[in-house]
Amino acid sequence: MQIAKSISEFNLIRNTFVGSIGFVPTMGALHDGHLSLVKKSKNKCDYTIVSIFINPKQFAPNEDFNNYPRTLEDDINQLELHNIDLVFIPTINQIYHDEYKDINYESYMFTILEGSTRPHFFKGVCNVVSRLFTIINPTDAFFGEKDFQQLRIIENMTKELNFNINIVPCKIIREPHGLAMSSRNEYLNKQDRLDAKIIFETLQKGIVLIDSGEDNISNIYDILIENILSEPKLSIDYIKIVNHKTLIEFSDTINDKFIICIAVYFGKTRLIDNIYN
Ligand code: PAJ
Repeated sequence: MQIAKSISEFNLIRNTFVGSIGFVPTMGALHDGHLSLVKKSKNKCDYTIVSIFINPKQFAPNEDFNNYPRTLEDDINQLELHNIDLVFIPTINQIYHDEYKDINYESYMFTILEGSTRPHFFKGVCNVVSRLFTIINPTDAFFGEKDFQQLRIIENMTKELNFNINIVPCKIIREPHGLAMSSRNEYLNKQDRLDAKIIFETLQKGIVLIDSGEDNISNIYDILIENILSEPKLSIDYIKIVNHKTLIEFSDTINDKFIICIAVYFGKTRLIDNIYN
């Protein structure tokens, strides 16, 4: 496994790769969720490149950029065990150089769901992902459904900006009791992680309700909200049943393929999850 910390180092190695190239962008603090993307890339592509870059543009001043878990040595060891070809660990100046200009891409999806609480977030994600796509020039890029809205936005951006890259969605990997794996789970203690299983249980309850014929949005919301709030340590940022493709909320009844998206606070820690059939 080779490591590049600058674009020139990266290019020297990248130029020797001939064949399909899978790319897994991450912010490090790697867990089995990230590693499932790595495995999928290794299965599908001749070469696998992982980037580790905590992107300041996707954090608001009041968010956890400074405290975001940094476990670089352990990350490198894990990637080594998975025998990937190249890890790209750029500095902030390599990504956002002096002449860097934000990309010209906007979408209504930036302002809904995650975007209503984190208005800066998706613009920041699109900036870094398009910059990484340009540097890395992969054939395939792997994104987790854990961040379903991010996946949809990247799919749309890739099409609209004509990146010739196949975006590969990857299923959510969960802890044994159901909590979706996340670098931010590091902020929770063992008991909190166990109690947070109510998030996935509630999503599953939503699926059972809808499968049993309930299609009235407000009836479903009432039941799901009550379920979440039965855990006193949780508060809800949003829970929404939205169109699986457009991510627009159903107004009355569910009349198309849907996904249930949720964001909650566990103390100060913000957790997101989703489920669909
Ligand atoms: P990060 O949170 O490190 O996640 C990197 C990738 O791992 C994302 O595609 C995310 O959806 C996926 N992932 C995280 N937890 C997962 C889980 N439990 N199951 C499956 N996949 C999971 O997402 C980002 O970084 C950043 O926004 C990034 C795309 C790197 C841009 O900065």
